[in-house]
Amino acid sequence: MQARVGILGAGQLGRMLALAGYPLGIECVLLDRDERSPGAQVARFKAAALDDAEAAASLAAEVDVVTVEIENVPADVLRAAARHAPVHPPPDAVAAAQDRLAEKELFRSLGIPTTPFVRVDTSHDLDRAHRELGLPLVLKARRMGYDGRGQRIVRNAEELHGAWSALGEVPAIAEAWVDFDRELSLVAVRGANGQRAFYPLSENVHRDGILRISVAPFEDERLQRNAEERVDALMQRLDYRGVLALEFFHANGELLANEMAPRVHNTGHWTIEGAVTSQFENHLRAVLGWPLGDASPRGHAAMVNLLGNPPPLDALLSLPGVHVHLYGKSPRPGRKIGHCTIVDPDRRRLLERLAALTNVIEVSLPNPTPRNP
Ligand SMILES: Nc1ncnc2c1ncn2[C@@H]1O[C@H](COP(=O)(O)OP(=O)(O)O)[C@@H](O)[C@H]1O
Ligand SMILES: [Mg+2]
Repeated sequence: MQARVGILGAGQLGRMLALAGYPLGIECVLLDRDERSPGAQVARFKAAALDDAEAAASLAAEVDVVTVEIENVPADVLRAAARHAPVHPPPDAVAAAQDRLAEKELFRSLGIPTTPFVRVDTSHDLDRAHRELGLPLVLKARRMGYDGRGQRIVRNAEELHGAWSALGEVPAIAEAWVDFDRELSLVAVRGANGQRAFYPLSENVHRDGILRISVAPFEDERLQRNAEERVDALMQRLDYRGVLALEFFHANGELLANEMAPRVHNTGHWTIEGAVTSQFENHLRAVLGWPLGDASPRGHAAMVNLLGNPPPLDALLSLPGVHVHLYGKSPRPGRKIGHCTIVDPDRRRLLERLAALTNVIEVSLPNPTPRNP
């Protein structure tokens, strides 16, 4: 019988999950508000809001298992679905990742080093954060932030209160600014009976809070082991099934956990062509309780996000060996509309080819909006 997976959310992650399911005969049914969503273009689709518990329950009644491609599905909605089908990852795991404070407290309780932080509910807390963390600091809304949204960097004391107002004075955390050497992430997957697989560390470059480039593997045995132990501790504590990603700052030779994502992750997109089994296929295998696939890399890989207006497709396709993924989204400034991946057995050559690719992507961008309009 054909396996059926219900997915809450039909963005590009849902789309790539559905595409990974086809060769295995897995039918994905996606739920999201907008029928033009990237996932709705390639798989069976149900139109409903992601906070509609009834819609989630009726989706669950039709499938073997329910999962998420976005962490902002309310936990109550996941629990409503769980009355009709297993939900993986578990609603509590998704809930922990929805709240930056709960997430950081979870890291602490497991002994996972994380960025120094202070809870901010009042303007009094803000002053305390300033005293304890120093400047610069980053103020982050506890909920609903992504791609750097819901965050303000505070560089001097005068900006402190204005920054919180700009966030709408919502419950927040203040974090010490980390002067990191690089950002790394680990994508891992846990299946039935505690079976696990770990992808190699990926090195990630963000600009304005948005991921631009990932290069993997980042080869450092000690850090790899370290990162795996931490993700493993999280997965065990959360009784996890599916893909879990953990983002790190690499500073002073050590890893500081930044945040986790209870889903497939942008820094794992390179695994489609660059690993034996992609993160998307492994997520589906995990939630269905199937054996996990090999997470080993097939050489070195680089992934570049396409943001806003894409460069001409023929320019990208003219670069030898570049894999182009477009998500079927209409372009908006800063919006992730696709990505490109290159795989090469030789890291030096990969980086040369990456330079050629970023060159095409950068030079093809339209005039940037003026900084001081
Ligand atoms: N405390 C910090 N110190 C330095 N840079 C930070 C800090 N927090 C966030 N950043 C930068 O902003 C990016 C996005 O922040 P993050 O907390 O991962 O939020 P999200 O990815 O949910 O938008 C990070 O990948 C990093 O580049
Ligand atoms: Mg992040």
